[in-house]
Amino acid sequence: MNPLKGLILSGGKGTRLRPITHTSAKQLVPVANRPVLFYGIEAMASAGIEEIGIIIAPETGDEIREVAGDGSQFGVSITYIVQDEPAGLAHAVLTAEPFLGDSPFVMYLGDNLLQGGIHDLVAAFTASEPDALILLTPVDEPQHFGVAELGEDGRVVALAEKPPEPKTNLALVGVYMFTPGIHDAARAIKPSPRGELEITDAIQYLVDSGKRVEPHVVQGWWKDTGRLADMLEANRLILDTIKTRVDGELVESQVDGRVVVEAGAVLTRATVRGPAIIGAGARLTDCYVGPYSAIGEECVIENAEVEHSILLQGSSVTGLDGRMESSLLGRDVKIGRSDRQPKAYRFMVGDTSEIEIL
Ligand code: G1P
Repeated sequence: MNPLKGLILSGGKGTRLRPITHTSAKQLVPVANRPVLFYGIEAMASAGIEEIGIIIAPETGDEIREVAGDGSQFGVSITYIVQDEPAGLAHAVLTAEPFLGDSPFVMYLGDNLLQGGIHDLVAAFTASEPDALILLTPVDEPQHFGVAELGEDGRVVALAEKPPEPKTNLALVGVYMFTPGIHDAARAIKPSPRGELEITDAIQYLVDSGKRVEPHVVQGWWKDTGRLADMLEANRLILDTIKTRVDGELVESQVDGRVVVEAGAVLTRATVRGPAIIGAGARLTDCYVGPYSAIGEECVIENAEVEHSILLQGSSVTGLDGRMESSLLGRDVKIGRSDRQPKAYRFMVGDTSEIEIL
């Protein structure tokens, strides 16, 4: 067998995370201060995959190239593959065919997070050599996912993409393992009602052609970080695993529990209650940062309380009476109080922003 390659899908519009995704790729939104995409690359690297292709869209591709680079920071080699239009996951596989060649590969959706990585899957795949291996997990609202039906022998019998009336609660997780036969399957199928070549349909084609598609039920947690609530949850799950480390400066400040304070951050009369991470160069003054917060580099929090929130680089929160919580701030966002008259709310916010006032 040729060595296993990796394919990470990092195109897509990220409409459910607007306005953040008006200016940035959804795969670069940080979880515990690191782009969500990095977790997928690292999962592959630690499973021994050396060559990774990343599918990018023309609009957000440059930003992804800049951040992930040639892969040397992860010990892998990255090849970027432009998908001209968001025509579906199976279309992405076809676009990557010249890169993938005859190699088996792991396909990983760039906004997914999988606890425990992909070691076990790679081991299962290598041991039993099926034509494809899919990951499944029980979910509450299967109609939003690809859904699998298993036969009595545990084999995959049928798959449906976002069926209005799902037959089971087993959702397809956004991590798949394929042999080169998937290319012919992707060529054989027709676009779905949403106009995309669905990977779910290509896998169904494998099943219908008598190929061996093995299911693997995920034991740990899995998150598709497409929406704000999912981002905050992914942030919680990752922050729960960090190790306390204080490299920044504490002046009359207190940190409790799992807290990372990066070098160059300065906390003055601040209390940080973990799990939380404070990015390099952040300034926290006369403030409280509560559990499950990820404060990006160079952020400023002053005379304010922030909890269960994600702040991207360079944002500031100052002089708030109430506590800010369950929020996601993009880059260089400023939230604060001013003394100007008349006393009124003043906003300058981008398209599709959401603001809730106490
Ligand atoms: C895609 C797949 C779906 C899968 C999901 C996992 O959906 O089409 O089968 O369950 O990823 O994240 P999408 O995110 O494109 O709506």
